[in-house]
Amino acid sequence: MKYAKIAGLGKYLPPKILTNRDLEKIVDTSDEWITTRTGIKTRHIASKKDSASTLALPAAKLALKRAGLKPKDLDLIIVATITPDRQFPSTACYLQDYLKADTVACFDIAAACSGFIYALVAAQGLIESGIFKNALVVGSEVLTKITDWDDRSTCVLFGDGAGAAVLTSGRKKSLLSSSLGGDGSYGELLLLPAGGSRIPASKETVKNKLHFVKMKGNELFRLAVRIMVNAAESALEKAHLKSSDVDILAPHQANIRIINAVASRLKLTEDKVYLNIGRYGNMSSASSAVALCEAWEEGKIKKDSIVVLDAFGGGLVWGSLVIKWV
Ligand code: UT7
Repeated sequence: MKYAKIAGLGKYLPPKILTNRDLEKIVDTSDEWITTRTGIKTRHIASKKDSASTLALPAAKLALKRAGLKPKDLDLIIVATITPDRQFPSTACYLQDYLKADTVACFDIAAACSGFIYALVAAQGLIESGIFKNALVVGSEVLTKITDWDDRSTCVLFGDGAGAAVLTSGRKKSLLSSSLGGDGSYGELLLLPAGGSRIPASKETVKNKLHFVKMKGNELFRLAVRIMVNAAESALEKAHLKSSDVDILAPHQANIRIINAVASRLKLTEDKVYLNIGRYGNMSSASSAVALCEAWEEGKIKKDSIVVLDAFGGGLVWGSLVIKWV
């Protein structure tokens, strides 16, 4: 039996930073409100010419370098994104071209904030079934391009960035267990209304701002904690582990109050919860990818560490993945 393992991690954050003070000049908000209600202080903003693929590229190159692999070694590329370059071709195809990888399998996953976890689990299945050997998984988002900069209830929340993981096959089980779920009945709580086949783009949709994220934050908040706790507990149970076995939780970074409530219910102390929401805001699929990468860079993940990823987002979709670092 061959098992999938993470061999290298990478990240990329575009250089431009937008502070809460900058936002005070754009909408009726305050640093105090944003900090206390969300935990966010700054977020990175992609440039006009950037897209999901251009942010994914440097993150992918770093992950490949750290894995000791070349693009030619890849036989699968998955990009998790809700801000793809285009509806099609997939962002994974653009990334394959930029990397000059072989003409391998490429596809995108649209699972919002849980996208990176969904993509890791998909790559794991394809590696452990023997179909592929080396996979590149990227969570890349340019959320600020689908943000309504007149809507203070959403524009203070989002940021841009990318996180990447290279998976290879190994002899020890590392991705121990996962718990993924979805419930479309809550779809209206967080969505991009137009631009798809249901409401194609038109002058009307542009005028009515239907190409920007719409969110019922308060209702989502109430669901987020319970769903993230259940997902993590279910994944841990499948691995025959308890929350006391967890060395580090790298959660989706939507709101510090959500993360703190999840950590408290899982009885995890502060030192076991990786936080970067203050610097980056909510980067959807890139959030848990960058959190995992930075937890590793900062030495919080070592050999045999039990790492838990946990995310929740539009769909609704959620997912948790338990990893024993090898
Ligand atoms: O990525 C995964 C999915 N996303 C989430 O899980 C997000 C979950 N939701 C949240 O994180 C929070 O609900 C938010 C941060 C989005 C909002 O925080 P909240 O504590 O739920 O605030 P609220 O929406 O209940 O609004 C409270 C007040 C309202 O004023 P009134 O009606 O009480 O007078 C809002 O108009 O805060 C006002 N408000 C703001 N005030 C200053 C909303 N946005 C802002 C703002 N600055 N940016």
